[in-house]
Amino acid sequence: CGIVGYIGSEGAAPILVEGLKSLEYRGYDSAGIALAPGGGEFRITRASGKLRNLQNRVDMNDPATTGIGHTRWATHGRPTEENAHPHRSADGQVVAVHNGIFENFLELRAELKGAGHTFVTETDTECFPVMVSQIMRTEPDFKEAFRLAVGRMHGIYAIGCLLATDPGRILVGRSGPPLVIGLGDGENFIASDVVPLLRHTRRVIYLEDGDLAEITRDAVTIFRQDGSPVERPVFVVPFDPVAAEKGGFKHFMQKEIFEQPLAVSNTLLDRLPLDGGGVPLGLAFTDEELRSFQRITILACGTSRHAGLVGQFYLEQLARIGVEVDYGSEYRYRDPVVMADTLAIGITQSGETADTLAAMKEAAARGARGMAICNVQGSTAARLAEATLLTHAGPEIGVASTKAFTTQLVVLLLLALRLGEARGTLDPAVRAEIIQALRELPALLERVASTERKIHQWAQKWHEATDFLYLGRGPLYPIALEGALKLKELSYIHAEGYPAGEMKHGPIALIDRHLPIVAVMPRDAHREKVLSNLQEAAARDGRILALVEEGDTGLDHIAEDVLHLPKVNPWLAPILYVVPLQLLSYHIAVIRGCDVDQPRNLAKSVTVE
Ligand code: G6P
Repeated sequence: CGIVGYIGSEGAAPILVEGLKSLEYRGYDSAGIALAPGGGEFRITRASGKLRNLQNRVDMNDPATTGIGHTRWATHGRPTEENAHPHRSADGQVVAVHNGIFENFLELRAELKGAGHTFVTETDTECFPVMVSQIMRTEPDFKEAFRLAVGRMHGIYAIGCLLATDPGRILVGRSGPPLVIGLGDGENFIASDVVPLLRHTRRVIYLEDGDLAEITRDAVTIFRQDGSPVERPVFVVPFDPVAAEKGGFKHFMQKEIFEQPLAVSNTLLDRLPLDGGGVPLGLAFTDEELRSFQRITILACGTSRHAGLVGQFYLEQLARIGVEVDYGSEYRYRDPVVMADTLAIGITQSGETADTLAAMKEAAARGARGMAICNVQGSTAARLAEATLLTHAGPEIGVASTKAFTTQLVVLLLLALRLGEARGTLDPAVRAEIIQALRELPALLERVASTERKIHQWAQKWHEATDFLYLGRGPLYPIALEGALKLKELSYIHAEGYPAGEMKHGPIALIDRHLPIVAVMPRDAHREKVLSNLQEAAARDGRILALVEEGDTGLDHIAEDVLHLPKVNPWLAPILYVVPLQLLSYHIAVIRGCDVDQPRNLAKSVTVE
């Protein structure tokens, strides 16, 4: 879900709606805004479905200069207008927007009903404004009542709250989901991430867990749940707001696919060794610490987890250290065994995925050292970890991850090299080849992006298929998983990714003359094995679409469609071969009329567990 808020001297309505547009990728089941014109009333507008439904209803000329807004990804209660935020107390005096879950809301509801309050929705959020209103019966100060109400809530939250009779302040609180305050001149802003703020200011404050704040036109006062004041630093956000616009592309996703050469070179910038030096990663760990790690645990979700699976190959083979990869949502529930000298690496584009954060905290609580690989400076994951490696992909807006993924792979490879150097496990010749190949990678990615026309033809031919199988081996096996995930997310076509060698142990039963099988087969150590796996598939009439290296004719007699990719160092093949798969899902989804940037039911950053 996404939260925005404004207090200043401009009309709040267009600022809130614009802000929600930039946050829509966080959830788009329903949206709403509350304007506080003063005089004891609110003007609340809400709508189910996409933001444009809300936009059509809001009076953009409303003179109110204070307001809060919300775009929702449904957790408790269906995505109806009634369940859309902002929610208000039945007396109409308090409104709130909320991202997260109040775990004790059923108890609180019962208590508040007992005190004579009525509820109009089934949501957990509604109990918050009602609680504030209840406390204000005996504690007339809004700020104090807000603080006490927050103290009654269990669970995770980012909250924004307004009082009808006091439009001169917005109260906010954070425990879990992120909340950022944007500092203006005679005006201030709140939002779930920096993107909506960039149009107005680059000076931001990230609230810490347990922080509350009172925001007026001219001041921001931060305090803790016990009421004690606290100072937080002001950050200046480096990236350019233009990076969060679509440019000439039809969709953010398409733009982001084509930005990969740039994203990768930004990620490599100043991180490739100069003559004789080591890989300059600026890690917060000493060489001695890097040598002391006995095990690496990678924790991540979705596409970031697939990056972790490629990272497992990099780290094990180049740094000779045992690696396990787990789902953020599974790790902490399996009572994990954390050995001494374990390094836990959370991989997360947003740095805010609740499952990944919870897993990182669990690993740290069991004694692991913590590292984050993420794309957002100042994000929760970055602040949680002892060491952070940023992917400099720039803001990724399309819900399906593309450039964040390829830059994660680059960072994982650099990390494997760095660890290998420190641990003395790197063959100097292999190291030199990889480094040279990394230098050439952005140019190779440019060449791969130019396969779009051919991939578009594939999409026209294959978009009606109802199932797809993706196969690869070695570090290309996670790329098969990622290709399948992209297709599912974007086009709602069922797809499975499998290690090619595992196909014969089950999925082979699915193969018939209707099943497209997408194979990723660079010229690497696994090529011959993949070739024979595909022969098994062809013998059962499977229809093969293959991605192979230029000049490789090995599949010509069995594959129906072949795409040739430039010769690449095998370590970098995953980074190159995923690009056509991104393009294939993109074009199939466009042809099928799907909403590419905001696929149904998904959200870019899932801040609930
Ligand atoms: C959501 C998104 C996925 C993403 C995953 C992890 O489910 O829809 O595209 O891969 O979260 O996100 P993170 O920000 O942690 O990489």
